[in-house]
Amino acid sequence: MADLSTSRFLNVLSGNPSSPVPIWMMRQAGRHLPEYLELRSRAKDFLDFCYSPSMAAEATLQPIRRYDMDAAILFADILLILDAIGLDVRFEKGVGPIVETVETESDLTRTTIETAIQRLSPVYETVDRVRSGLEDTKALIGFCGAPWTVALYAIEGRGGTDKSMARSWAYTKPDLLEKLLSLLVEASAQYLAEQVKAGADALMIFESWAEGLPSDLFQSLVIAPNAALVKRLRSLGVDVPIIGFPRGAATMLESYTRQVEVNGVGLDTALNPSAVLNAVPPKMAVQGHLDPLLLIAGGDAMDQRVREILAAYKGRPHIFTLGHGVRPETPIAHVERVVELVRMEG
Ligand code: CP3
Repeated sequence: MADLSTSRFLNVLSGNPSSPVPIWMMRQAGRHLPEYLELRSRAKDFLDFCYSPSMAAEATLQPIRRYDMDAAILFADILLILDAIGLDVRFEKGVGPIVETVETESDLTRTTIETAIQRLSPVYETVDRVRSGLEDTKALIGFCGAPWTVALYAIEGRGGTDKSMARSWAYTKPDLLEKLLSLLVEASAQYLAEQVKAGADALMIFESWAEGLPSDLFQSLVIAPNAALVKRLRSLGVDVPIIGFPRGAATMLESYTRQVEVNGVGLDTALNPSAVLNAVPPKMAVQGHLDPLLLIAGGDAMDQRVREILAAYKGRPHIFTLGHGVRPETPIAHVERVVELVRMEG
Protein backbone atom coordinates (compact mmCIF):
# COMPACT_ATOMS: atom_id res chain seq x y z
CA MET A 1 0.00 0.00 0.00
CA ALA A 2 1.12 3.52 -0.74
CA ASP A 3 0.13 6.25 1.71
CA LEU A 4 0.87 9.89 2.50
CA SER A 5 4.09 9.04 4.31
CA THR A 6 5.50 6.89 1.49
CA SER A 7 4.17 8.46 -1.72
CA ARG A 8 4.97 12.01 -2.78
CA PHE A 9 2.21 11.77 -5.38
CA LEU A 10 -0.42 11.10 -2.67
CA ASN A 11 1.13 13.72 -0.41
CA VAL A 12 0.67 16.38 -3.11
CA LEU A 13 -2.93 15.27 -3.68
CA SER A 14 -3.56 15.91 0.01
CA GLY A 15 -2.67 19.56 -0.62
CA ASN A 16 1.05 19.68 0.26
CA PRO A 17 3.72 21.02 -2.11
CA SER A 18 6.60 18.58 -2.68
CA SER A 19 10.18 18.88 -3.85
CA PRO A 20 11.01 17.13 -6.07
CA VAL A 21 7.65 17.39 -7.76
CA PRO A 22 6.15 13.93 -8.46
CA ILE A 23 5.88 12.93 -12.12
CA TRP A 24 3.87 10.51 -14.27
CA MET A 25 2.42 10.78 -17.78
CA MET A 26 -0.95 10.00 -19.31
CA ARG A 27 -0.55 7.07 -21.75
CA GLN A 28 2.85 6.33 -20.23
CA ALA A 29 2.04 2.70 -21.04
CA GLY A 30 1.53 2.23 -24.74
CA ARG A 31 2.89 2.18 -28.22
CA HIS A 32 5.97 4.37 -27.72
CA LEU A 33 7.46 1.50 -25.65
CA PRO A 34 8.98 -1.49 -27.51
CA GLU A 35 8.18 -3.75 -24.56
CA TYR A 36 4.51 -2.72 -24.87
CA LEU A 37 4.43 -3.49 -28.60
CA GLU A 38 5.92 -6.91 -27.90
CA LEU A 39 3.28 -7.66 -25.24
CA ARG A 40 0.49 -6.23 -27.40
CA SER A 41 1.42 -8.53 -30.30
CA ARG A 42 0.53 -11.50 -28.11
CA ALA A 43 -3.06 -10.34 -27.45
CA LYS A 44 -5.93 -11.29 -29.75
CA ASP A 45 -7.18 -7.70 -29.79
CA PHE A 46 -7.08 -4.60 -27.61
CA LEU A 47 -10.18 -5.55 -25.56
CA ASP A 48 -8.72 -8.97 -24.90
CA PHE A 49 -5.52 -7.25 -23.74
CA CYS A 50 -7.48 -5.02 -21.33
CA TYR A 51 -9.40 -8.02 -19.97
CA SER A 52 -6.28 -10.18 -19.42
CA PRO A 53 -5.07 -9.31 -15.91
CA SER A 54 -1.58 -10.72 -16.40
CA MET A 55 -0.99 -8.73 -19.61
CA ALA A 56 -2.70 -5.56 -18.40
CA ALA A 57 -0.77 -5.66 -15.12
CA GLU A 58 2.50 -6.09 -17.01
CA ALA A 59 1.67 -3.13 -19.30
CA THR A 60 0.85 -0.98 -16.23
CA LEU A 61 4.21 -1.77 -14.66
CA GLN A 62 6.40 -1.32 -17.78
CA PRO A 63 6.74 2.48 -17.57
CA ILE A 64 7.39 2.29 -13.82
CA ARG A 65 10.35 -0.02 -14.39
CA ARG A 66 11.67 1.97 -17.32
CA TYR A 67 11.19 5.52 -16.04
CA ASP A 68 10.69 5.20 -12.29
CA MET A 69 7.49 7.31 -12.47
CA ASP A 70 5.84 8.21 -9.15
CA ALA A 71 2.49 6.79 -10.21
CA ALA A 72 1.29 3.89 -12.30
CA ILE A 73 -2.00 4.21 -14.16
CA LEU A 74 -4.12 1.12 -14.51
CA PHE A 75 -3.91 -0.26 -18.04
CA ALA A 76 -7.51 -0.32 -19.29
CA ASP A 77 -9.67 1.98 -21.41
CA ILE A 78 -12.49 4.43 -20.73
CA LEU A 79 -14.71 2.55 -23.19
CA LEU A 80 -14.77 -0.75 -21.25
CA ILE A 81 -17.80 0.53 -19.34
CA LEU A 82 -19.78 0.68 -22.62
CA ASP A 83 -18.84 -2.90 -23.38
CA ALA A 84 -19.93 -3.82 -19.84
CA ILE A 85 -23.38 -2.25 -20.22
CA GLY A 86 -23.92 -4.32 -23.37
CA LEU A 87 -22.89 -2.10 -26.29
CA ASP A 88 -20.54 -3.65 -28.79
CA VAL A 89 -17.06 -2.05 -28.59
CA ARG A 90 -14.20 -2.80 -31.01
CA PHE A 91 -10.79 -1.26 -31.55
CA GLU A 92 -9.72 -1.24 -35.16
CA LYS A 93 -6.13 -0.85 -36.22
CA GLY A 94 -5.54 2.60 -37.68
CA VAL A 95 -9.15 3.64 -36.99
CA GLY A 96 -9.51 3.55 -33.19
CA PRO A 97 -12.61 2.61 -31.23
CA ILE A 98 -15.91 1.68 -32.94
CA VAL A 99 -18.89 1.62 -30.59
CA GLU A 100 -22.44 0.39 -31.14
CA THR A 101 -24.59 3.47 -30.72
CA VAL A 102 -27.46 4.09 -28.33
CA GLU A 103 -30.67 4.61 -30.30
CA THR A 104 -33.50 4.29 -27.79
CA GLU A 105 -34.04 4.03 -24.06
CA SER A 106 -34.15 0.23 -24.28
CA ASP A 107 -30.44 0.28 -25.23
CA LEU A 108 -29.74 1.56 -21.71
CA THR A 109 -31.22 -1.46 -19.97
CA ARG A 110 -29.52 -4.33 -21.75
CA THR A 111 -27.86 -5.29 -18.45
CA THR A 112 -28.30 -4.32 -14.83
CA ILE A 113 -25.59 -2.14 -13.33
CA GLU A 114 -24.74 -5.05 -11.05
CA THR A 115 -24.05 -7.28 -14.06
CA ALA A 116 -21.99 -4.56 -15.77
CA ILE A 117 -19.83 -4.11 -12.67
CA GLN A 118 -19.40 -7.86 -12.41
CA ARG A 119 -18.30 -8.08 -16.07
CA LEU A 120 -15.47 -5.69 -15.32
CA SER A 121 -13.98 -7.98 -12.67
CA PRO A 122 -10.81 -8.71 -14.74
CA VAL A 123 -9.98 -5.02 -14.29
CA TYR A 124 -10.16 -5.35 -10.49
CA GLU A 125 -7.89 -8.35 -10.70
CA THR A 126 -5.40 -6.26 -12.71
CA VAL A 127 -5.51 -3.59 -10.00
CA ASP A 128 -4.86 -6.19 -7.33
CA ARG A 129 -1.92 -7.67 -9.22
CA VAL A 130 -0.36 -4.28 -9.94
CA ARG A 131 -0.69 -3.12 -6.36
CA SER A 132 1.09 -6.26 -5.14
CA GLY A 133 3.89 -5.62 -7.64
CA LEU A 134 4.44 -1.95 -6.74
CA GLU A 135 6.66 -0.48 -4.05
CA ASP A 136 4.87 1.62 -1.46
CA THR A 137 6.55 4.79 -2.79
CA LYS A 138 4.52 4.38 -6.00
CA ALA A 139 0.83 5.16 -6.21
CA LEU A 140 -1.63 3.31 -8.43
CA ILE A 141 -4.19 5.45 -10.25
CA GLY A 142 -7.54 3.88 -11.14
CA PHE A 143 -9.70 5.72 -13.67
CA CYS A 144 -12.83 6.01 -15.73
CA GLY A 145 -14.05 8.29 -18.48
CA ALA A 146 -16.34 11.10 -17.36
CA PRO A 147 -20.01 10.59 -18.31
CA TRP A 148 -20.12 13.13 -21.17
CA THR A 149 -16.91 11.85 -22.83
CA VAL A 150 -18.07 8.24 -22.63
CA ALA A 151 -21.60 9.17 -23.77
CA LEU A 152 -20.09 10.90 -26.77
CA TYR A 153 -18.66 7.59 -28.03
CA ALA A 154 -22.03 5.87 -27.44
CA ILE A 155 -23.77 8.56 -29.50
CA GLU A 156 -21.24 9.17 -32.29
CA GLY A 157 -20.05 5.55 -32.52
CA ARG A 158 -16.41 6.55 -32.96
CA GLY A 159 -13.83 9.17 -32.07
CA GLY A 160 -12.41 11.79 -34.39
CA THR A 161 -15.80 13.28 -35.32
CA ASP A 162 -16.72 16.94 -34.87
CA LYS A 163 -18.96 15.81 -31.97
CA SER A 164 -21.95 17.69 -33.35
CA MET A 165 -24.24 14.68 -33.11
CA ALA A 166 -23.66 14.31 -29.37
CA ARG A 167 -24.03 18.03 -28.76
CA SER A 168 -27.25 18.11 -30.78
CA TRP A 169 -28.73 15.52 -28.45
CA ALA A 170 -28.69 18.18 -25.73
CA TYR A 171 -31.26 20.05 -27.83
CA THR A 172 -33.13 17.30 -29.67
CA LYS A 173 -33.04 14.33 -27.24
CA PRO A 174 -32.42 15.88 -23.82
CA ASP A 175 -34.31 13.14 -21.95
CA LEU A 176 -32.40 10.26 -23.51
CA LEU A 177 -29.09 12.10 -23.03
CA GLU A 178 -29.94 12.74 -19.38
CA LYS A 179 -30.77 9.03 -18.85
CA LEU A 180 -27.52 7.96 -20.54
CA LEU A 181 -25.48 10.36 -18.38
CA SER A 182 -27.23 9.20 -15.19
CA LEU A 183 -26.59 5.57 -16.03
CA LEU A 184 -22.91 6.37 -16.62
CA VAL A 185 -22.66 8.30 -13.33
CA GLU A 186 -23.95 5.34 -11.33
CA ALA A 187 -22.07 2.62 -13.25
CA SER A 188 -18.80 4.62 -13.18
CA ALA A 189 -19.12 5.29 -9.43
CA GLN A 190 -19.56 1.60 -8.68
CA TYR A 191 -16.77 0.66 -11.12
CA LEU A 192 -14.33 3.08 -9.46
CA ALA A 193 -15.37 1.96 -5.98
CA GLU A 194 -14.45 -1.62 -7.01
CA GLN A 195 -11.08 -0.42 -8.31
CA VAL A 196 -10.40 1.19 -4.93
CA LYS A 197 -11.44 -1.97 -3.06
CA ALA A 198 -8.93 -3.86 -5.22
CA GLY A 199 -6.11 -1.45 -4.30
CA ALA A 200 -6.22 1.77 -6.36
CA ASP A 201 -4.65 4.61 -4.32
CA ALA A 202 -6.14 7.51 -6.30
CA LEU A 203 -8.71 7.96 -9.06
CA MET A 204 -8.79 10.05 -12.21
CA ILE A 205 -11.87 11.00 -14.20
CA PHE A 206 -11.04 11.69 -17.87
CA GLU A 207 -13.30 14.30 -19.43
CA SER A 208 -11.30 14.34 -22.64
CA TRP A 209 -13.92 16.02 -24.82
CA ALA A 210 -15.15 18.95 -22.77
CA GLU A 211 -14.05 21.45 -25.40
CA GLY A 212 -16.37 23.59 -27.47
CA LEU A 213 -19.47 23.40 -25.29
CA PRO A 214 -21.55 26.53 -24.73
CA SER A 215 -21.32 27.44 -21.05
CA ASP A 216 -24.85 26.26 -20.19
CA LEU A 217 -24.08 22.85 -21.71
CA PHE A 218 -20.67 22.77 -20.02
CA GLN A 219 -22.60 23.20 -16.79
CA SER A 220 -25.22 20.51 -17.48
CA LEU A 221 -23.12 17.95 -19.41
CA VAL A 222 -19.71 18.30 -17.77
CA ILE A 223 -19.89 19.96 -14.36
CA ALA A 224 -23.15 18.43 -13.09
CA PRO A 225 -22.34 14.78 -13.98
CA ASN A 226 -18.73 15.07 -12.73
CA ALA A 227 -19.95 16.63 -9.47
CA ALA A 228 -22.58 13.89 -9.11
CA LEU A 229 -20.00 11.18 -9.76
CA VAL A 230 -17.62 12.53 -7.10
CA LYS A 231 -20.48 12.87 -4.58
CA ARG A 232 -21.67 9.35 -5.32
CA LEU A 233 -18.14 7.99 -4.84
CA ARG A 234 -17.92 9.67 -1.44
CA SER A 235 -21.35 8.31 -0.49
CA LEU A 236 -20.10 4.82 -1.40
CA GLY A 237 -17.33 5.35 1.18
CA VAL A 238 -14.50 5.95 -1.31
CA ASP A 239 -11.93 8.11 0.49
CA VAL A 240 -8.94 8.13 -1.89
CA PRO A 241 -8.00 11.38 -3.69
CA ILE A 242 -9.75 12.12 -6.98
CA ILE A 243 -8.27 14.01 -9.95
CA GLY A 244 -10.59 15.58 -12.52
CA PHE A 245 -9.42 16.29 -16.06
CA PRO A 246 -11.81 18.67 -17.85
CA ARG A 247 -9.81 18.86 -21.08
CA GLY A 248 -10.85 21.95 -23.01
CA ALA A 249 -12.59 23.63 -20.04
CA ALA A 250 -10.96 26.98 -20.93
CA THR A 251 -12.77 29.80 -19.13
CA MET A 252 -15.07 27.27 -17.40
CA LEU A 253 -12.17 25.85 -15.34
CA GLU A 254 -13.02 27.95 -12.31
CA SER A 255 -16.69 26.87 -12.34
CA TYR A 256 -15.50 23.28 -12.61
CA THR A 257 -13.08 23.46 -9.66
CA ARG A 258 -15.66 25.33 -7.57
CA GLN A 259 -18.40 22.75 -8.12
CA VAL A 260 -16.66 19.41 -8.63
CA GLU A 261 -15.12 18.35 -5.33
CA VAL A 262 -11.87 16.93 -6.65
CA ASN A 263 -8.50 16.94 -4.89
CA GLY A 264 -6.56 17.62 -8.05
CA VAL A 265 -7.19 18.94 -11.52
CA GLY A 266 -5.58 18.04 -14.85
CA LEU A 267 -4.60 20.95 -17.10
CA ASP A 268 -4.60 20.71 -20.88
CA THR A 269 -2.00 22.22 -23.23
CA ALA A 270 -4.07 25.32 -23.97
CA LEU A 271 -4.41 26.65 -20.42
CA ASN A 272 -2.07 29.33 -19.29
CA PRO A 273 -0.55 29.03 -15.77
CA SER A 274 -1.56 32.56 -14.74
CA ALA A 275 -5.21 31.80 -15.55
CA VAL A 276 -4.89 28.48 -13.69
CA LEU A 277 -3.52 30.17 -10.56
CA ASN A 278 -6.66 32.32 -10.45
CA ALA A 279 -9.08 29.51 -11.23
CA VAL A 280 -7.81 26.72 -8.95
CA PRO A 281 -8.02 26.94 -5.13
CA PRO A 282 -4.51 26.98 -3.57
CA LYS A 283 -4.93 23.60 -1.83
CA MET A 284 -6.14 21.80 -4.95
CA ALA A 285 -3.29 19.94 -6.69
CA VAL A 286 -2.57 20.79 -10.32
CA GLN A 287 -1.03 18.53 -12.96
CA GLY A 288 -0.51 18.89 -16.66
CA HIS A 289 0.33 21.34 -19.42
CA LEU A 290 3.39 19.94 -21.21
CA ASP A 291 2.50 19.56 -24.88
CA PRO A 292 2.91 15.91 -26.04
CA LEU A 293 4.17 17.31 -29.36
CA LEU A 294 6.96 19.21 -27.58
CA LEU A 295 7.84 15.92 -25.86
CA ILE A 296 8.29 14.47 -29.35
CA ALA A 297 10.35 17.46 -30.56
CA GLY A 298 12.58 17.58 -27.45
CA GLY A 299 15.66 19.81 -27.23
CA ASP A 300 16.14 23.17 -25.51
CA ALA A 301 12.56 24.27 -26.14
CA MET A 302 11.29 21.25 -24.21
CA ASP A 303 13.74 21.80 -21.33
CA GLN A 304 12.74 25.44 -21.13
CA ARG A 305 9.02 24.65 -21.03
CA VAL A 306 9.53 22.04 -18.30
CA ARG A 307 11.36 24.66 -16.23
CA GLU A 308 8.62 27.24 -16.85
CA ILE A 309 5.92 24.85 -15.69
CA LEU A 310 7.90 23.95 -12.57
CA ALA A 311 8.47 27.64 -11.80
CA ALA A 312 4.82 28.57 -12.36
CA TYR A 313 3.58 26.19 -9.64
CA LYS A 314 6.46 26.49 -7.16
CA GLY A 315 5.04 26.40 -3.65
CA ARG A 316 1.74 24.89 -4.82
CA PRO A 317 0.73 21.24 -4.71
CA HIS A 318 1.95 20.25 -8.19
CA ILE A 319 2.34 16.96 -10.06
CA PHE A 320 4.25 17.05 -13.33
CA THR A 321 2.50 15.53 -16.34
CA LEU A 322 1.48 16.28 -19.92
CA GLY A 323 -1.49 18.23 -21.25
CA HIS A 324 -2.64 15.01 -22.97
CA GLY A 325 -1.29 11.50 -23.57
CA VAL A 326 2.16 10.35 -24.73
CA ARG A 327 1.96 9.63 -28.47
CA PRO A 328 3.32 6.52 -30.16
CA GLU A 329 6.11 8.40 -31.99
CA THR A 330 7.59 9.82 -28.75
CA PRO A 331 11.33 9.14 -28.30
CA ILE A 332 12.10 7.34 -25.06
CA ALA A 333 15.13 9.59 -24.50
CA HIS A 334 12.83 12.64 -24.32
CA VAL A 335 10.66 11.07 -21.63
CA GLU A 336 13.84 10.19 -19.72
CA ARG A 337 15.08 13.77 -20.06
CA VAL A 338 11.84 15.21 -18.63
CA VAL A 339 11.95 12.80 -15.68
CA GLU A 340 15.59 13.76 -15.04
CA LEU A 341 14.85 17.50 -15.16
CA VAL A 342 11.87 17.20 -12.83
CA ARG A 343 13.90 15.12 -10.35
CA MET A 344 16.81 17.59 -10.41
CA GLU A 345 14.96 20.89 -10.54
CA GLY A 346 11.40 20.27 -9.47
O1 CP3 B 1 -1.08 4.71 -19.74
C1 CP3 B 1 -2.31 4.99 -19.68
O2 CP3 B 1 -2.73 6.15 -19.82
C2 CP3 B 1 -3.28 3.87 -19.28
C3 CP3 B 1 -4.23 3.37 -20.17
C4 CP3 B 1 -5.25 4.18 -20.95
C5 CP3 B 1 -5.60 3.84 -22.29
N1 CP3 B 1 -6.66 4.61 -22.65
C6 CP3 B 1 -4.96 2.79 -23.09
C7 CP3 B 1 -5.12 2.79 -24.55
C8 CP3 B 1 -6.07 5.25 -20.55
C9 CP3 B 1 -6.08 6.03 -19.25
C10 CP3 B 1 -6.97 5.49 -21.63
C11 CP3 B 1 -8.04 6.50 -21.60
C12 CP3 B 1 -8.75 6.83 -22.83
N2 CP3 B 1 -9.16 6.00 -23.83
C13 CP3 B 1 -9.25 8.13 -23.12
C14 CP3 B 1 -9.10 9.32 -22.21
C15 CP3 B 1 -7.77 9.92 -22.28
C16 CP3 B 1 -7.43 10.57 -23.57
O3 CP3 B 1 -6.53 10.03 -24.25
O4 CP3 B 1 -8.03 11.58 -23.87
C17 CP3 B 1 -9.92 8.06 -24.36
C18 CP3 B 1 -10.59 9.21 -25.07
C19 CP3 B 1 -9.87 6.71 -24.80
C20 CP3 B 1 -10.50 6.12 -26.01
C21 CP3 B 1 -9.51 5.50 -26.89
N3 CP3 B 1 -8.83 4.34 -26.62
C22 CP3 B 1 -9.11 5.95 -28.18
C23 CP3 B 1 -9.61 7.20 -28.86
C24 CP3 B 1 -8.16 5.03 -28.65
C25 CP3 B 1 -7.53 5.01 -30.01
C26 CP3 B 1 -6.47 6.03 -30.14
C27 CP3 B 1 -5.11 5.38 -30.01
O5 CP3 B 1 -4.26 5.96 -29.34
O6 CP3 B 1 -4.94 4.31 -30.63
C28 CP3 B 1 -7.97 4.05 -27.64
C29 CP3 B 1 -7.05 2.89 -27.69
C30 CP3 B 1 -6.03 2.81 -26.61
N4 CP3 B 1 -6.26 2.98 -25.26
C31 CP3 B 1 -4.65 2.47 -26.77
C32 CP3 B 1 -4.08 2.46 -25.49
C33 CP3 B 1 -2.65 2.12 -25.12
C34 CP3 B 1 -3.98 2.11 -28.09
C35 CP3 B 1 -4.41 0.73 -28.48
C36 CP3 B 1 -3.33 -0.15 -29.05
O7 CP3 B 1 -2.33 -0.45 -28.37
O8 CP3 B 1 -3.52 -0.58 -30.19
